[in-house]
Order: sequence, then structure tokens, then C-alpha cells
Amino acid sequence: MERRSRPQTSAEAQFAQRDAELSALDLADRFSRIYETNMWSDAQSRSGPGSSLDATAHLREALSRMIGTLDTRVLLDVPCGDFAWMAATPLENVSYIGADIVTALVAENQRCFGNARRRFVHLDLTRDPLPEADVVLCRDCLVHLSYANVWAAIANIRRSGARYLMTTSFPKRADNYDIVDGNWRPLDLQAPPFSFPEPVASIPEHCREGGGAYADKSLLVWRANDLPSEMD
Ligand SMILES: C[S@@+](CC[C@H](N)C(=O)[O-])C[C@H]1O[C@@H](n2cnc3c(N)ncnc32)[C@H](O)[C@@H]1O
Repeated sequence: MERRSRPQTSAEAQFAQRDAELSALDLADRFSRIYETNMWSDAQSRSGPGSSLDATAHLREALSRMIGTLDTRVLLDVPCGDFAWMAATPLENVSYIGADIVTALVAENQRCFGNARRRFVHLDLTRDPLPEADVVLCRDCLVHLSYANVWAAIANIRRSGARYLMTTSFPKRADNYDIVDGNWRPLDLQAPPFSFPEPVASIPEHCREGGGAYADKSLLVWRANDLPSEMD
């Protein structure tokens, strides 16, 4: 299943060390264990090095502009992780809903960051009904899921009635492969087996992880109606 001809990321090395322990858990318990033990061991964010303020400096500015361009009244950020970099992302006149599969994380976010325009809910993106939103932001999540659960998440987002999906992709790699849930690999959503169409917009993240091996990491935007289904 696993195939790699590129530098191993810290997320892959960390998962490999704990593969047996984590693979015995269901999806919610697996990500809860990753959170509780700070497996991605970043000093700033339990959501990993890609979620630090430094790693998201360009993204935060570009995302604020993109949210405005997409005429967003309600943004669903699933998964929200620990909300570290989003707390520093201006979202003027937007109602924000953060969601994650880790119950403790959602409770902590609601306690620290909840307010009249911002709330946090517990849900599994692959199976639970999603709150109504104009735009679904799904950053650094599908890269951690098996093909079966990537398809389940895409189907759920299509069903939600949202207008747009913004999600992480590594364009023009065309070397996708399946993984165990909780591990990591770069995903090119425009390549098989997902074969998304051309995105309507793109935010390059200027990622510096892996000595530049992931410099193509981007947040790409699709109309939800254009997303493929596994049956296509
Ligand atoms: C690498 S973090 C990214 C968080 C955030 N999007 C960011 O950019 O900082 C991945 C998050 O996905 C969450 N997650 C994984 N599978 C999920 C699912 N099926 N439903 C909801 N959240 C999920 C994990 O709990 C974790 O908080």
C-alpha cells in the first residue's frame, strides 16, 4: 500500500513508530490519541508543524482575501485542529464553525475561542451531517485519510449543500497511493483515483518542509457541485 520516492516527513516517521498502537484504534480514538500524545510534536501547534504561525504566514493573508472573494457568510473549517493559526487569521463579517473528530480539542477550542460569531462542534467528516455553510475549508486532513475515507469525506461535503470546497492538494504530482488512516502522504486530488477538475482558485502555501520537497502544497478551491463521486 505504502509507496514513497521522496524525503520522509516527520508525520510519516512518527506514525511508523506507532503504527501497531494506532492502527488498533477506530478513527476517532486514533486522532484523539495523536492529539493527547502530541504525536506531531510541534512546539506551537498540536496540529503539527504545518499549522504553526510561521508555516501559515502566507496562507493566512491569502485565505482572508479568498474568503471575501467567495462571498462567504458562513465558513465551516473541518478539521479545525487546535485553531492556533486560524486565531490569527482575520475573518471579517464571517460566521465561523470549527469542527473536529477529537472531542477534547473541540471542547477546549469552544472554551478558549468560542464567541457570538464563532463556535466549535464535534463531528466526523467522513460520516456525520455537516452544519450549513457557504464554504468548507478542509486543510491538512484528506492527506491523513485512506482512499475509502477520502471518498466518504468528499461525498459528505457534496451532500452538505456548501457552494465551495477549499482543500489541500499537491498539484501535478500524479503519484497518489493509499495509506492507513492517521498516516500522511501528499495527495494530488486532480490525479487518479480522484481526478478532480481544474480548481476555480488556488493559494500556494510556500511550504518549506522537507527541504522544499513539498513546495507545491496548495489550498485549492472547487465548486462543490463539480466534485467527483466514487461512482463516476
Ligand atoms: C494536521 S491537523 C490539521 C488541522 C487544521 N485543518 C490545520 O490546518 O491546522 C488534522 C486534524 O484532522 C482531524 N481529523 C482527522 N480525521 C477527521 C475526521 N474524519 N473528521 C473530523 N476531523 C478529523 C484531526 O483530529 C486533526 O485535528
